[in-house]
Amino acid sequence: MKIKTAVVTGASSGIGKAIAQKLAAEDIQVVLVARNKDTLDSIAKELNSKPGGKAIAIPTDVAKRDEVKRMVHKAEETFGTIDLYVNNAGLMLSAVITEGEIDEWEQMIDVNVKGVLYGLHEVIPNMVKQKYGHIINISSVSGHEVTKRSTVYSATKFAVRAISMGLEKELAHTGVKVTNVSPGMVDTRLIGGHQSTRKPLDTTDIANAIYYAISQPDHVNMNEITIRPV
Ligand SMILES: NC(=O)c1ccc[n+]([C@@H]2O[C@H](COP(=O)([O-])OP(=O)(O)OC[C@H]3O[C@@H](n4cnc5c(N)ncnc54)[C@H](OP(=O)(O)O)[C@@H]3O)[C@@H](O)[C@H]2O)c1
Repeated sequence: MKIKTAVVTGASSGIGKAIAQKLAAEDIQVVLVARNKDTLDSIAKELNSKPGGKAIAIPTDVAKRDEVKRMVHKAEETFGTIDLYVNNAGLMLSAVITEGEIDEWEQMIDVNVKGVLYGLHEVIPNMVKQKYGHIINISSVSGHEVTKRSTVYSATKFAVRAISMGLEKELAHTGVKVTNVSPGMVDTRLIGGHQSTRKPLDTTDIANAIYYAISQPDHVNMNEITIRPV
């Protein structure tokens, strides 16, 4: 495993927190990114209290380009390189076009789409220079299917998947891998009161799938993972 340092956005909660915990348990240095400083600090403390644990918290709003730039700079200054960038931060707000919650659509577009692009813009040049790196973009099954309640959220997650598909082609022959991950329902605060006939996945199920993708040999680029509850 060449990956020594990872940035995980949306690491203060849910899937991102589980990814950070899994990576740290596998001796990867982790940069924890989200807006809530206190929560990030307490997760960093928990990870650093374990043998070999090396984590730092960098409070960042991924929807703000200058904050993402500063965060990546600080992460590279602290750990030298970033080998893995997990674009996980995301919001699911009112997504129904006829309900007209334009502010909520804009927030989802800013975080779920622009936030992803800002991170990619900052980390890819050094990954290409070092001829090694891995990008994980968290889309959703809502990036494959649309329901009448999911229109705008689905649009942002289709965008994430399009970004992953194009980026994989752009980065062919560079040594930088791209994996798009599309979870079904996972038990986090994001799903709120949403009901399903299937038992939601655990956050650790997604973290384990990501670890599987990054553990593949150098010549294997696992591009798309879709994970649903049985
Ligand atoms: N749960 C599901 O069923 C499910 C299914 C498919 C895909 N997903 C995707 O999985 C990802 C993680 O979601 P989750 O379910 O783990 O939800 P969650 O528990 O609500 O976590 C969302 C994370 O994103 C962070 N975040 C939100 N806005 C941010 C911003 N502007 N800047 C930086 N960080 C921000 C939050 O931290 P702060 O509030 O501290 O900033 C939090 O750490 C999302 O992209 C979501 O769309 C979830």
